[in-house]
Amino acid sequence: MSSLDYKALAAEARQIFGTAADEQELEAARVAWIGRKGRITVLLRQIPELPEDERPLAGRTLNTLKGDLSSLLDARLREFADSGAGDETGFDITHPGRTPFIGRLHPITKTLDDIIEVFREMGFDVAEGPEVESEYYNFEALNIPEHHPARGMWDTFWTKSPPGLVLRTHTSPVQIRIMENQKPPVRIIVPGRCYRADTPDATHSPVFYQVEGLYVDEGVSMAMLRGALDTFAHRLFGSDVPTRFRPSYFPFTEPSAELDIGCFQCGGNGCRLCKGSGWLEILGSGMVNPELYGFVGYDPEKVTGYAFGMGVERIAMLKYGIDDIRLLYENDLRFLEQF
Ligand code: DAH
Repeated sequence: MSSLDYKALAAEARQIFGTAADEQELEAARVAWIGRKGRITVLLRQIPELPEDERPLAGRTLNTLKGDLSSLLDARLREFADSGAGDETGFDITHPGRTPFIGRLHPITKTLDDIIEVFREMGFDVAEGPEVESEYYNFEALNIPEHHPARGMWDTFWTKSPPGLVLRTHTSPVQIRIMENQKPPVRIIVPGRCYRADTPDATHSPVFYQVEGLYVDEGVSMAMLRGALDTFAHRLFGSDVPTRFRPSYFPFTEPSAELDIGCFQCGGNGCRLCKGSGWLEILGSGMVNPELYGFVGYDPEKVTGYAFGMGVERIAMLKYGIDDIRLLYENDLRFLEQF
């Protein structure tokens, strides 16, 4: 091998390293020239086979070239890194994207959405009403007169000025507001925030959500109520969950019943969650008390209806296994990020 060959070899190698268009081409050049089986490496290994007087020059020249090429390689790599190795704007379209943090829905919102979806499919419209309510809608027109002991069922926040208004203690007043303005058939659900003067603990929050339901028309029966609530329970808690109606009392329904589902924690044998009963209460319901029709101008001889009301936090807690309602209102991201 003559010194002239080295020059041509060096020129060829520099050209290839110098013009590599991206990191892959550069890596291919590295492998082809100075990798373990690269051309320079092979030539260096063959030096002992050269005539003795040619070996020193060959060694120096090839080692110098190898050093030059690896410097050139480093320089080109830095060049690519600085420019973003992409198109001429420096924007690397192959760089993996960063996933933006887009947040998530609060478990109460998710549960509300689930509840609304089930009843929407059954033909219910969504209605809303005010959170600051008059005594008339919150109590009187719901057949809860002043001084009636049933008022004790709700620990009420009253306003000071103007006096006599309440923060609604339930979504039931919206039943009256809608019936006042709409002739039967009425088929609505009412999601909304409610307030009670309760001391916060694991199962009480002064602010909470309810979903109310109301269906009034000719021929609405308790069997229809039972069917709708069964469908609801099965959709939210699984198609094989047992349900039962348990007699109860509410001033605005007659007869009244609460819906229980079989305790999924103990399978009905009795545990701490179901307080040993094997059943979990999930909502209140009943046939609309005909007294209410007198307040809204409906003919109790012609129409019947059913109503129900549920606490959204309770449903969410049962669904997601949350054992303290306060977790839903503390906004601790470590909790919220689990949903
Ligand atoms: N308003 C009741 C409460 O807050 C819940 C309720 C029970 C609503 C029975 C209803 C019903 O519409 O029929 O405790």
